[in-house]
Order: sequence, then structure tokens, then C-alpha cells
Amino acid sequence: MIGASGGIGKAVAAELAPVANVTRLSRRDDGLDVRSQASVDAALDALPGPYDLIFVATGALVVDGQRPEKALKEVSETSLRDQWEVNALGPALILRHAPRLLPRDRRAVVAVLSARVGSIGDNGLGGWYGYRAAKAAVNQIVHTVAIEIARTHKQAICVALHPGTVATPFTRDFVSPDRATPPETAAANLLSVIDGLTPAQSGGFYDYAGNEVPW
Ligand SMILES: NC(=O)c1ccc[n+]([C@@H]2O[C@H](COP(=O)([O-])OP(=O)(O)OC[C@H]3O[C@@H](n4cnc5c(N)ncnc54)[C@H](OP(=O)(O)O)[C@@H]3O)[C@@H](O)[C@H]2O)c1
Repeated sequence: MIGASGGIGKAVAAELAPVANVTRLSRRDDGLDVRSQASVDAALDALPGPYDLIFVATGALVVDGQRPEKALKEVSETSLRDQWEVNALGPALILRHAPRLLPRDRRAVVAVLSARVGSIGDNGLGGWYGYRAAKAAVNQIVHTVAIEIARTHKQAICVALHPGTVATPFTRDFVSPDRATPPETAAANLLSVIDGLTPAQSGGFYDYAGNEVPW
């Protein structure tokens, strides 16, 4: 579990812990900064593998105190660069390690938390330029990684997942908790989707109910 200190990452790791041997990595507890290749490489090179599930639960909507842009005039070099680094570059640097960490002889899943707002086809509201663009970018990265991994890991499945609106620190300032799914429920939903995925679905973008999200 990468991002094991986050609301969703912690809940998914807790749900798995009774039935699996879970390795947890996070910025808070391990100093892993996904914006730094040196930091990602140091943390992931130290992992023995193979793993039946690599779950990337890092991400941010507010980076260094900067809230998502409501309008074009709020878009800046910093807003775009920060979002790119945390939500797209970070997962990509982690995924570089996936081929070594996945088994070649059995089913295994790489799940990356994306967001429905990263869908271009589903974007009817506008706003949140940097976050939307970074999630669209990570979707493209996941899809491309899935193609490459399939050449060497026939049973591997690499997907982007939308977790729903989940009550975590991430949504605290944007959604009232009673309108958000508890992290434990979100974790159970995501793991159920992961359990049901087949290699033919690798490269796709799915929500917490297993439905395909448009690109
Ligand atoms: N919650 C929702 O409703 C929702 C909806 C759609 C998509 N998502 C996606 O789901 C993912 C997890 O969200 P969440 O609700 O669990 O958020 P969260 O509770 O705020 O957790 C975010 C996690 O990302 C980590 N993180 C942030 N920046 C990092 C960096 N530079 N290096 C390493 N780790 C970093 C945090 O680490 P530390 O805490 O250790 O610093 C934490 O583990 C995100 O990708 C988000 O976009 C969430």
C-alpha cells in the first residue's frame, strides 16, 4: 500500500490486513515523497516483492495550501506544476517499479486511485484545471503501463479507479461528511472491484461499483 497514511489507503490496508501480508509506505511514516524520483526509488528499490496487489493511494486536491482553481484566472504555473507532480508524475514514478514487483506466474493487480473528475468525457462542470488535467494524465499513464506490462506479465491487471466521494481529509473542506462514503465502505467497494477484475480489463478506468468511467 503506497499512501498508507491517507484516508482511503489506511482503510484499504486495514481491510486487507486480516487476510494478507500488507506492506505500508507513506510520506508521514516513511518519508516517501512521490514528487521526488530519488525518494520513490529509495523506498521501492528496498521492497522485495512479488506482490499480488500494488495499490497507489497517494494524491492531493490541495497542494501546499493551494486550493483547486475555480476559474481560468486562478490557473498558474504553480497550480499546474504542483498538481502534475503529486497526481501524475508521482504515480508514474511508482509504476516504473511495477514490472519487478509483480509476479509473472499468477494474477496480480496494480490499482491507482484516480478520480472521475479526470474524465474528459464526463466533465460537465469545469474548474479544477490542474487536478482534472493531472488525473487525466495519470489515466493515460496507467493505460500505457498496462499495455507494456501485459507483454511480460500475462495475468497482470493495471487499472485506474475512482473511489467515489469518500469522507477523508481530502474532502473535508469540500463535502459535508454525511454526503460522503465512509472510508471503510469505500475500501470494501474498491477491493470487491479489484477481486472481480480480469486481465481483459487491464488498462481501464473503473468506479467503486466496477462500472467503466469514460476517458
Ligand atoms: N476522497 C475522495 O472523495 C476522493 C475522490 C476521488 C479521488 N480520490 C483520490 O484518492 C486518493 C486518496 O485520497 P484520500 O481521500 O485517501 O486522501 P487523503 O486522506 O488526503 O490521503 C492522501 C494520501 O496521499 C499522500 N500524499 C500526498 N502528497 C504526497 C507526496 N508528495 N508524497 C507522498 N505521499 C503523498 C498522503 O501522505 P501523508 O498524509 O503521509 O502526507 C496521504 O497518504 C487521491 O489520489 C485522490 O485524488 C479521492
